[in-house]
Amino acid sequence: MEVVGAPIRVQSIAEKDLKLEVPPQYIQPPENRPSKPSNGNATDHKIPMINLGGDRDVNLLCKEIGSACSEWGAFHVINHGVSTTLLDQIRKVGSSFFEDFPMTEKLRYACDSTSPASEGYGSRMLVASDDAVLDWRDYFDHHTFPLSRRHPSRWPHFPPNYREVIGEYSDNMKVLALKLLGLISTSLGLSSSFIEESMGEVYQNITVSYYPSCPQPELTLGLQSHSDMGFITLLIQENVAGLQVSKNDGWVTVNPVSHAIFVILGDQTEIITNGVYKSAVHRAITNGEKARLSVATFHDPAKTVSVSPAPGLQPPPKYHEVVYGDYVQSWYTKGPNGKRNIDALLI
Ligand code: OGA
Ligand code: NI
Repeated sequence: MEVVGAPIRVQSIAEKDLKLEVPPQYIQPPENRPSKPSNGNATDHKIPMINLGGDRDVNLLCKEIGSACSEWGAFHVINHGVSTTLLDQIRKVGSSFFEDFPMTEKLRYACDSTSPASEGYGSRMLVASDDAVLDWRDYFDHHTFPLSRRHPSRWPHFPPNYREVIGEYSDNMKVLALKLLGLISTSLGLSSSFIEESMGEVYQNITVSYYPSCPQPELTLGLQSHSDMGFITLLIQENVAGLQVSKNDGWVTVNPVSHAIFVILGDQTEIITNGVYKSAVHRAITNGEKARLSVATFHDPAKTVSVSPAPGLQPPPKYHEVVYGDYVQSWYTKGPNGKRNIDALLI
């Protein structure tokens, strides 16, 4: 594993050099810049918004979910059953860690930057190529499920309710993720527990991302284009836009919707649905005026689990079976490289 760049936090660059120019390793090649005209930033008025509330007819709900999953691989959910207080609390404790904690304190929680997806406070993605462009983002990654991986003593001790809020949020996101995977299974005519059973024990990570305001947002990306590797990601953002989803060769900005949760299908869902449903390619752009916070909760299988297309779903199978750990490994070795990693599995 080759590590690119010194373990510098973006926030310290942004604060020190209040100004003018970003360091060269953060400058994207012209074709990846958000300002590229053909990447026209449409608003998200077409991104589906799905109401999970109350006594909705399940057939109708599954139909809506099915078209959102096949057309976008991403959608907002409202009336999702998670308390709005909890959504506000996690954004608040997340911002407080990044904004109220001195850097020396934050660095006590630094993750091991030589090991992929290690828990703690970190920056940038690890990729093998030397010419990697860095992301304008710092983050804190929390390991939350299975419970044997959950060690709150490794999470910030400030603000005082930080650890408790992460724990409660984690529990709520797991329930919602499984409910959505049930609806997704049903919408394909599979038994409602099909994806959950194929996934096995749920591995959940919560990543709080902090994108400092950037002096040259037109040249940088907060997070480079990628699709998530696991089954399903649930994301909330603060009221500053920045997340974009790829659609028809353009980028659509996902405007924050108060108290909605944004659902992103990962590559394993694309594989298990034999490509009937797509994982969403997405990225984050930076903002010249304001810092932005997001909380992404990932739901993955164990590294030893094999994932393959569900038998009988629009045969023949379009993807090779893959051991999840091998998939993750190849991602960290090759990096996103402008190409969907999942395409390597196409038959
Ligand atoms: C991610 C991700 C987007 C965002 O962490 O995988 O896509 O808006 N985050 O922070
Ligand atoms: Ni993502």
